[in-house]
Amino acid sequence: MTALLELDDLSVTYRIAAGEVPAVRGVSLSLDSGAALGVAGESGSGKSTLAMALLRLLPRDARVGGRILLDGEDVLTMKWGRLRAVRWAEASIVFQGAQHGLNPVQRIGDQIAEPLLVHDLVKPDGARKRVAELLEQVGLPTWRAGSYPHELSGGQRQRVMIAMALACSPRLIVADEPTTALDVMVQAQVLTLIKQLIAEHGISLIMISHDLSVLADVCDRLAIMYAGRVVENGPSREVFHDARHPYGRALAAAFPTVGDPASRLAPRGLGGDPPDPMRLPTGCSFHPRCPVALAECSTLDVELWPAGEARSAACVHVRAKEEIS
Ligand SMILES: Nc1ncnc2c1ncn2[C@@H]1O[C@H](COP(=O)(O)OP(=O)(O)O)[C@@H](O)[C@H]1O
Ligand code: SF4
Ligand SMILES: [Mg+2]
Repeated sequence: MTALLELDDLSVTYRIAAGEVPAVRGVSLSLDSGAALGVAGESGSGKSTLAMALLRLLPRDARVGGRILLDGEDVLTMKWGRLRAVRWAEASIVFQGAQHGLNPVQRIGDQIAEPLLVHDLVKPDGARKRVAELLEQVGLPTWRAGSYPHELSGGQRQRVMIAMALACSPRLIVADEPTTALDVMVQAQVLTLIKQLIAEHGISLIMISHDLSVLADVCDRLAIMYAGRVVENGPSREVFHDARHPYGRALAAAFPTVGDPASRLAPRGLGGDPPDPMRLPTGCSFHPRCPVALAECSTLDVELWPAGEARSAACVHVRAKEEIS
């Protein structure tokens, strides 16, 4: 398989009055065509920043470094015209909380049709048919085209957002916490829909969540982020059931089953707070919270070390094991 998307040493720093916020710090990841990659991590770990960087949707005060290769072409150096085309036709983003993405005073059928018409992908008389087709694909009755967003439930609105993401037949969908605001039953239905759509259409997916169980359910591979870095990367089942990084183990323990309502409220196994990016701990950024930290961890230069077949983890214990074997 060839990589559809490759992040090479991606970094994003926000410049604010108080100084610099290094939100993403040297992330390298790759996504095969047709594959699904999950990105997990607590609030503030840089997941949304990473997602927005992929299509250059970051605010102007963000400085971006590294490379984002989509089919070999660097998104960061693309001309505007090309970038616009890519945003519609090749990659689209579903954001957290569907209410923000929808216009409250426009019927949803018109909202779904808009990009198709703007980009001349359908003629006006074909738009209605394509909208009906998209609504059916996401499990909504076609008469919903005439509804306004407030007439829909949260789950239905999220389905509309997915229909909009599918409209231009993209090759890549980036879904940032697509089910976080939904209740457990509806979350499960939307996850099933996402799985079915990517399988049927051969779409590649990057799905972002703080909940490892949700990602393990949908994705082939998982990357776990901590303080702007990937600290663990590997096949999703293995990462979920047998994480090599102590933070990965803590996240898996915090979210044992998909949609467990208790774990949403009180993540177990994770003491302390995620670090402030402007005051990162020295050495391994996880060391103040790490249950298995060694004395050297507060000064150690950690990197992603190999941790088994197609796996890596940024922990001194992994490095030690690899050196012995
Ligand atoms: N526009 C911004 N300006 C300054 N700092 C920001 C901005 N957006 C996000 N951040 C900071 O960047 C870090 C990563 O945020 P974010 O990417 O939203 O993380 P996540 O999606 O994992 O919760 C956080 O510390 C957040 O406060
Ligand atoms: S490098 Fe040290 S502090 Fe960091 S995760 Fe591993 S043991 Fe914990
Ligand atoms: Mg986020």
